[in-house]
Amino acid sequence: MSEQTPASPAASPAADPAADAAAGVPVPKRVRVHHLAQWKERGEPITMLTAYDAVTARIFDEAGIDMLLIGDSIGNTMLGLPSTIPVTVDEMVPAVRSVASATRRAMVVADLPFGSYEDSPEHAFATAVRMLKEGGAHAVKLEGGERMAAHVRLLTSSGIPVVGHLGFTPQSENILGGTRVQGRGDEAAERLVADAVALQEAGAVAVVLEMVPAPVAARATEVLRIPTIGIGAGSECDGQVLVWTDMAGMTAWAPRFAKKFGDVGGALYTATRTYAQAVRERTFPGPEHSFAE
Ligand code: KIV
Repeated sequence: MSEQTPASPAASPAADPAADAAAGVPVPKRVRVHHLAQWKERGEPITMLTAYDAVTARIFDEAGIDMLLIGDSIGNTMLGLPSTIPVTVDEMVPAVRSVASATRRAMVVADLPFGSYEDSPEHAFATAVRMLKEGGAHAVKLEGGERMAAHVRLLTSSGIPVVGHLGFTPQSENILGGTRVQGRGDEAAERLVADAVALQEAGAVAVVLEMVPAPVAARATEVLRIPTIGIGAGSECDGQVLVWTDMAGMTAWAPRFAKKFGDVGGALYTATRTYAQAVRERTFPGPEHSFAE
């Protein structure tokens, strides 16, 4: 990757688009599905984060994140819902549009929420079309393995890239018995790898592996031609994804696999307190923030 120019998506894992822009380097090209395949082949890690609005999406895009996922985790993180299950397509579309409008380089991936695709490939197609036409997404993500193969096949043959999602699939939390590691034991591990292969053969461009034992994720990564993107699935995956609010320290609690890379919540709290105090003390606004006439 070091031989590539910084503005090339082929160099993405090391890219710093903000620095490039400041240095007058041309606007980076959009990350496309063939870049994912290239990076897998070269062993270059792929970065993915969730995003739900234009303000944060712009920052993540400028920081060089390769894929931005408008996850149905918007339910828990932004909408005050108890899980991803109540999230609707109508709630997802404006978030997808916001993220897509703010990115120049990242591939924008929209989750298909629970109830919007499972019953037929045609239903999946109709929902995915909304994500692309109204939201401006470049790809969609759906949960499930072999049982989703026909859905993935129809979407792919219709020009819609699909990212699969295996392991702990939050939309099925009620049948999985809550938030639990999946793929434990030989039989379950084999089934998971077979599901990943079924998604690949149907045309999926990548597969998210959530809460999967690291050796099982490593096996899937070895077997697949398409990249695996892990979350709680060890270091051997081709890429990693985190929910941004966990990654940046916006929440009091985060799952064990979600490392906190900053204290944005703390910084926001301090800024807010400082602002409120300045208003109360009448030190804000100052003359520089006021209009004389
Ligand atoms: O909805 C989401 O944020 C996700 C990630 C956890 C992969 O599906």
